[in-house]
Amino acid sequence: MKTKILLVAGARPNYMKIAPIHWAFTRTGASGLDLEIVHTGQHYDASLSDDFFRDLELPAPSVNLAVGSGSHAEQTAKVMVGFERVLAEKRPAMVVVVGDVNSTAACAMVTAKTQYDGGAQPLLLHVEAGLRSRDRTMPEEVNRIVTDALSDVCFTTCRDADANLLAEGVPAERIRFVGNPMIDSLRRCLGRAQGATLLSDLGLRPGAFGLCTLHRPSNVDRREVLGEILDALGAIAADTPILLPLHPRTRRRIETFALGDRLRELSRTERERPRHGLLAIEPLSYFEMLQAMQYAGFVLTDSGGIQEETTALGVPCVTLRDNTERPVTIAEGTNVLAGTTRAGILQGLAGARRKAARSTRRPALWDGRAGERILAVLRALAGGARGRGAEMAAPPLVAVGME
Ligand code: UD1
Repeated sequence: MKTKILLVAGARPNYMKIAPIHWAFTRTGASGLDLEIVHTGQHYDASLSDDFFRDLELPAPSVNLAVGSGSHAEQTAKVMVGFERVLAEKRPAMVVVVGDVNSTAACAMVTAKTQYDGGAQPLLLHVEAGLRSRDRTMPEEVNRIVTDALSDVCFTTCRDADANLLAEGVPAERIRFVGNPMIDSLRRCLGRAQGATLLSDLGLRPGAFGLCTLHRPSNVDRREVLGEILDALGAIAADTPILLPLHPRTRRRIETFALGDRLRELSRTERERPRHGLLAIEPLSYFEMLQAMQYAGFVLTDSGGIQEETTALGVPCVTLRDNTERPVTIAEGTNVLAGTTRAGILQGLAGARRKAARSTRRPALWDGRAGERILAVLRALAGGARGRGAEMAAPPLVAVGME
């Protein structure tokens, strides 16, 4: 009988983390494993979901819980109720969750408490474990702590994540440094992303524009913070156009806070736009985003993933936050923490440009093979005893990435 494994995705930043595991599975024909994708439906707009499945060549999920939006408790609770039924029906031996969104923590909690008739329990594996911003006002930080504490196997993308987990008392045998699956997706899709017509449609020349993404509640849910960030963008866009794909949350806040006129004023006329001003557009597909990041002169963002992608691409990145759970992008890559004041952002941009001009490096194991390493662990676990405790039957931990 095949070992059933569920790969869980819920929101936009999850898809490029599950895809490399699925590719490794289809490429090797991993016999003995039965891998299914479950979508919680936390994100449901085509631009935040289906378009990514298409670009990443992922099969349609076998289940979509369609939980939709809501308060944190509502959304988390709906995922938990739906996922409990999925586990009862499918009885997987393993559940793989990725990243730090509400769906991640919700499915982790359900998996950790599930016991099938006969006493067996599914194993819980967390991809991108151990990242810590040490800012518990971020919902994602809470999700990370909960998920890691419950996971049987913590797959890490960088060595500082290993250290964080060890410091929190996670036994070394549970930690596996496998590299960064999001960078697998980037490397595989960069060539195909060249076919996107985004830049030519907008008349933007490589290196001669900036890219900005904003969606964190701490940045967009307070009028004064969002207003200050828009002012900084306006100042930078006076001599370089800035592409601004708007997350639905951010678009709504701009209207609620009556900042729409300010945005329109900073957007300039169509004729001026290739040279100055903000270009506010709908969220980008994965290929469009890769193309925009690769050719941007600089990126301003509050996203976690984009800090890593710009480091992999060597593009200057200004992070519009006071902290990051991804310090390796600062220590080794092109990232600078700028906060959210106008002065801080302008200074951060100058710093990130200087940094990218000097030599930066790609962190260890961001080499396009993380998905293969994760699959190798899944196979080893499936080959040994099944259920909780089976992780001990797999090859030595921690060393996986160094093979
Ligand atoms: C979520 C994640 C965040 C991640 C981000 C990427 C949590 C706590 N947050 O934030 O870590 O960086 O996704 O985008 O899990 N909406 C739509 N269409 C959709 C989905 C959402 O319009 O398909 C709107 C709704 O108004 C919703 C709002 O966006 O209320 C926020 O969506 P939600 O999933 O709660 O959080 P994000 O801000 O997207």
